[in-house]
Amino acid sequence: MRSATVRKIIGAYDDPVVRAYCWARFWILRQRFLDEIGQYLPAEGPVLDLGCGFGLFSLYYAATGPRRFLRGIDVNARRIALARRAAARLGIDNVAYEVADARHFKGDGEVGAAYMLDIVHHVPPETVVPLLAQLRRAVAPGGVLLVKDVDTRPATKRWFTWALDKAMAPRTPVHYWSAERLAEALQASGFRVRRHLMVDVLPYPHVLYIGEAV
Ligand SMILES: C[S@@+](CC[C@H](N)C(=O)[O-])C[C@H]1O[C@@H](n2cnc3c(N)ncnc32)[C@H](O)[C@@H]1O
Repeated sequence: MRSATVRKIIGAYDDPVVRAYCWARFWILRQRFLDEIGQYLPAEGPVLDLGCGFGLFSLYYAATGPRRFLRGIDVNARRIALARRAAARLGIDNVAYEVADARHFKGDGEVGAAYMLDIVHHVPPETVVPLLAQLRRAVAPGGVLLVKDVDTRPATKRWFTWALDKAMAPRTPVHYWSAERLAEALQASGFRVRRHLMVDVLPYPHVLYIGEAV
């Protein structure tokens, strides 16, 4: 049933290049990882997807959690337009999208949960700590910020990830954070942090950080 949801979401995009990208993303973050991430999301209430891209994961978590309300933001206007069109086609109405820079997101304790999937390494490193501090203000006490990113070690896995990032978006700079440094940055921003190692047969050094707003 849930992989049928994934197939439906992919089928909601017309452009074959976007569909291929969605297949690749759902292949990298496949069912097991969707469940590993999803277990930390509340079953209801507002959930923020920062850097939502084409909207595939927000659509997935909205479709599988009808009492959630997903709000996806991304700087890329074309991606947001495609996310809106996919939501309309799928008849998923517990999701909304807007074009915005995550670094300018202002919130005041109204978000129960927020997540960033492979965003931190695309954001200029000096802006990551201020971004996390903004998000700490947006997330309600007891709420959660999930960050899925890639570790800098082992180096072979980092190079593999770098090659894929460059293949997908050659002009976008990337800066990977070691798991220790990113955990420290989350902690310094007011989150109690646990690391969930997402062990993969593919050479990805995935790490999921669960930041509890204290
Ligand atoms: C690797 S993609 C990941 C997209 C989506 N989270 C996923 O997992 O498929 C990175 C996304 O981050 C967006 N992005 C990069 N910097 C951003 C920022 N400062 N604010 C909002 N979105 C940003 C890009 O436009 C792109 O859609």
